[in-house]
Amino acid sequence: MPNSPTSVLVVGATGGIGRLVVATAQQHGLDVRALVRDPGRAERLLPGAELVPGDLEKPDTLHTAVSGVGAVVFTHGGNGSPDAARRIDYGGVAAVLQALDGRTPRLTLMTSIGVSRRGAYGGSTGQLLDWKRRSERLVRASGAPYTIVRPGWFDAVGPGDHRLVLEQTDTGDGGIGRDQLAEVLVRSLLTDTAVNRTFELFAEAGPAPTDWTGLFGALAPDPAGGLDAAGDPATLPAVSEEPPTVQEDLARLAG
Ligand SMILES: NC(=O)c1ccc[n+]([C@@H]2O[C@H](COP(=O)([O-])OP(=O)(O)OC[C@H]3O[C@@H](n4cnc5c(N)ncnc54)[C@H](OP(=O)(O)O)[C@@H]3O)[C@@H](O)[C@H]2O)c1
Repeated sequence: MPNSPTSVLVVGATGGIGRLVVATAQQHGLDVRALVRDPGRAERLLPGAELVPGDLEKPDTLHTAVSGVGAVVFTHGGNGSPDAARRIDYGGVAAVLQALDGRTPRLTLMTSIGVSRRGAYGGSTGQLLDWKRRSERLVRASGAPYTIVRPGWFDAVGPGDHRLVLEQTDTGDGGIGRDQLAEVLVRSLLTDTAVNRTFELFAEAGPAPTDWTGLFGALAPDPAGGLDAAGDPATLPAVSEEPPTVQEDLARLAG
């Protein structure tokens, strides 16, 4: 099992979830580096974080951000359009992994419920989810110890919904508080039983967790050497059916 990281790069650090991840990681004693496009704005949003300028659409700008870092949390996202999903949601993961150049820090990737429910969502939502599913495949192919969190609907929770529900098979539905999601993303970096697990995340009525090792440890690990999550349907596309850019990114990671 990998050692707990002492530093983390937050990708999407100025976003709604990223800001909470930065604060939560700081509370857990991690040195936090934030990838930011506008350092002036980020300085106000992210007190205490090391700000490193970079743009996920410009891979050459990412080398300083990933240099020497013990972990990476991905919370970035585009505007929801299929093109932005390809360029940013997926492309950002590809670009950071490429910048890592074979190094294998601990990774945590936030995607979404529904990524493996192909055909359940049409139009741009279906395409967005497909690009997020493909970004999961890159992380599994990277050789780094990882956790992939597929959150439910942000803040669709009631006042007593403190119990965290971690599911596999991607068939559930529900909400999760942004604070709860940030805590899970950071805890996944610090808890060895979270390694190589993929799960959907919801909250329901009940007490907040105290046993993080047990919470993550109850999950099945993803199949070793595979590209998909434990419990994903066998009907997901073969690599040869993915867009050429995905095939090339996967081949680069395998080489
Ligand atoms: N809403 C839901 O219920 C729900 C549920 C499950 C999953 N999700 C997913 O959660 C994500 C949204 O999370 P959020 O609300 O935290 O997002 P957000 O507030 O829109 O933040 C997006 C982050 O990505 C960064 N970013 C975008 N393009 C970039 C680029 N080219 N280079 C570097 N950084 C870039 C943004 O930086 P700037 O500040 O510089 O723009 C920002 O920090 C979406 O991908 C969505 O699909 C949402």
